[in-house]
Amino acid sequence: MKNNLTLEKVMSFFRHNPSLNVNGVNDEAGLPKRKLDLVFNSNGSRKLSDEDLVKLEPILRKYGYSESLYQKARVISIVNHKGGVGKTTTTACLGETLVSKGFKVLLIDFDPQGNLSQILGVENPEEQVADCLFTNMPLPVVQILDNLWLAPSDISLAEIEVDLLSRVGGDVRLRHKITPILEDYDYILIDCPPSLSKLTVSALNASNSTLITMLPESSSLKGLNSLLNRISEVKEHTNRDIVLDGIVFTMVRKNSVHEGFKDAVRSSMAADFRVFDTEIRHLVDFQKSQALQATLGTLSATSEAYRCYKEFCDEYIAYLQIVKS
Ligand SMILES: Nc1ncnc2c1ncn2[C@@H]1O[C@H](COP(=O)(O)OP(=O)(O)OP(=O)(O)O)[C@@H](O)[C@H]1O
Ligand SMILES: [Mg+2]
Repeated sequence: MKNNLTLEKVMSFFRHNPSLNVNGVNDEAGLPKRKLDLVFNSNGSRKLSDEDLVKLEPILRKYGYSESLYQKARVISIVNHKGGVGKTTTTACLGETLVSKGFKVLLIDFDPQGNLSQILGVENPEEQVADCLFTNMPLPVVQILDNLWLAPSDISLAEIEVDLLSRVGGDVRLRHKITPILEDYDYILIDCPPSLSKLTVSALNASNSTLITMLPESSSLKGLNSLLNRISEVKEHTNRDIVLDGIVFTMVRKNSVHEGFKDAVRSSMAADFRVFDTEIRHLVDFQKSQALQATLGTLSATSEAYRCYKEFCDEYIAYLQIVKS
């Protein structure tokens, strides 16, 4: 009766497919009423029997399950050549909301400013990303919360940027450091610097996809073509699998300028790439939590700021399933 399906794989499949109806699948598989739901919410005290797993397997396959699915982390770089547009905040908050949904997440600080490390309370890291890129050292990580880890950086990363340019395979070194740990996480998010430098190209080379954060202001369009061209160049020459997931508007205010800009972007660009429906509002809680070096969810899981990213996280996970299928 034994098959390769395990409870952990079943739970992972539902986590990645939140729109799947747990009780519907339960009934289709002919399991006792609400069994799956009870097992999922039992904190490990209830299990599925081998017989349950055998019944479930064909039903899950019908909905897209396969052994190889979700074995490796999806690596996403958060990019924009412009500064101060919410890249770091999105990396931290999307990471935390993914964790709240049960995923294992690694955040990589790939910006010499080290802002991501600082807001997560990791200053002057003893070991950091720059130390490993040209040595045998594995990517150094520190644990931030249950299921949330950080590979930290500081200004030392700027010192090795020249090596990324001059050394053989410089801009695939980050990819090589990530490859051995792909099975340890569900998502790896890379916070990029505000430039189109070799650091950003290295992050793109290491990624399955990329997400652009953008302020809804006309200055945001300046240079956007260069960013899109850089992503296309990476796709053409060094990482043909990379996809542009789309744009998320950040620091959105309720005024006619922001409204007008968003409408214009949605109508002119929606044909070329996705502009996510969820918008991250301009809220002071983001600055507060960062000043306190506490994650948003730890500070206030009921805040409007945290809710914005939870909503975005739901939309993003749902979108990723469309891409996979
Ligand atoms: N939704 C928001 N509402 C209010 N303030 C925000 C929001 N998102 C980010 N901020 C604040 O705006 C500033 C810039 O944000 P962030 O550091 O995330 O941008 P960035 O694109 O990573 O910047 P850089 O290009 O310098 O790395 C920070 O002080 C942050 O606290
Ligand atoms: Mg930043």
